[in-house]
Amino acid sequence: MENLKGLILSGGEGTRLRPITHTSAKQLVPVANKPVLFYGIEALVEAGVKEIGIVIAPETGGEIAEAVGDGADFGASISYIHQEAPLGLAHAVLTAEEFLQDAPFVMYLGDNLLRDGITDLVNAFRSSEPDALILLTRVPDPGNYGVAELDGDRVVRLIEKPKDPPTDLALVGVYMFAPLIFEAAKAIKPSGRGELEITDAIQWLIDGGKRVESHTVTGWWKDTGQLDDMLEANRLVLEDIQRRIDGELVDSKVEGRVVVEAGARLERSVVRGPAIIGANARVTDAYVGPYTSIDAGVSVSRAEVEHSILLAGSSVSDLGSRMEASLLGRNVKLSRGDGLPKTLRMIVGDNAEIKIP
Ligand code: G1P
Repeated sequence: MENLKGLILSGGEGTRLRPITHTSAKQLVPVANKPVLFYGIEALVEAGVKEIGIVIAPETGGEIAEAVGDGADFGASISYIHQEAPLGLAHAVLTAEEFLQDAPFVMYLGDNLLRDGITDLVNAFRSSEPDALILLTRVPDPGNYGVAELDGDRVVRLIEKPKDPPTDLALVGVYMFAPLIFEAAKAIKPSGRGELEITDAIQWLIDGGKRVESHTVTGWWKDTGQLDDMLEANRLVLEDIQRRIDGELVDSKVEGRVVVEAGARLERSVVRGPAIIGANARVTDAYVGPYTSIDAGVSVSRAEVEHSILLAGSSVSDLGSRMEASLLGRNVKLSRGDGLPKTLRMIVGDNAEIKIP
């Protein structure tokens, strides 16, 4: 199987990550200062899949194409496929028919992260050449995913977001298909939520007696569609980083696995890893605790931040209490004044969430 292609789905409205996704694609939210989507591209390239199509939506497609480019930075050749409306994962496959032609392919949902990559799984697909290979993992909340029922190793039934899940085996957002999937996607009808579900297309293959194999993912897997998952993904990726200090430390203490990028400057501060401080960030008279990703150009002064993601250009200063489990968008300014009266004053965008203890 030589001509394996990659298809990354990077549309979707990201409703569960608003307001960040009002102005930016959910696949570009950084985990350990790198957009989620880049991990997927790197996983495909590592598995030897270098001809990649990215399915984009009208609202966020431009931004994604600008961030990713033509693939040269990743050692891949990337083209873009326009999906005019979010009509489901199987619909996305149909929009990519011209790009995929008759090649078998790996479909990767652009907001998914797998710790151990997909190389072994792609190799398994290459050698056994089934009609579909799906990845499964046990989750505590199967009702939020596609769920599989097995008979031994054989997949007998797949149900999309069941109210009463028969098992806790969720479909991971990485699938491998032979071209027969086009026939399946054309044969099925939209689901209750009005989408052509890939889950139903795979069920169509099963019903037709085709070969659908499953592999269980043992390393961690995250679908980063919501805040808590995003923070958890950030924590898991930071767990694996190596200490590297390229920035400047002035009267500061950096403990454990911490990355300080070039151009960053820490003054009279403590950073306790795992954490990453992006290029040209400023951390002054501050504490940055474990599982925190501070992106490029962020400023933290006279404040404490832990288990949080701060996007590029934001600033946090003079907080009276420690900020934690938070996600700040780009160019957010968060500060406490010392004037009276002691009131709260804010300009906050649509669907933001602020908790004041
Ligand atoms: C989609 C699939 C679902 C799968 C999940 C994995 O769900 O429909 O079967 O388990 O991705 O991330 P969605 O993210 O569209 O809700």
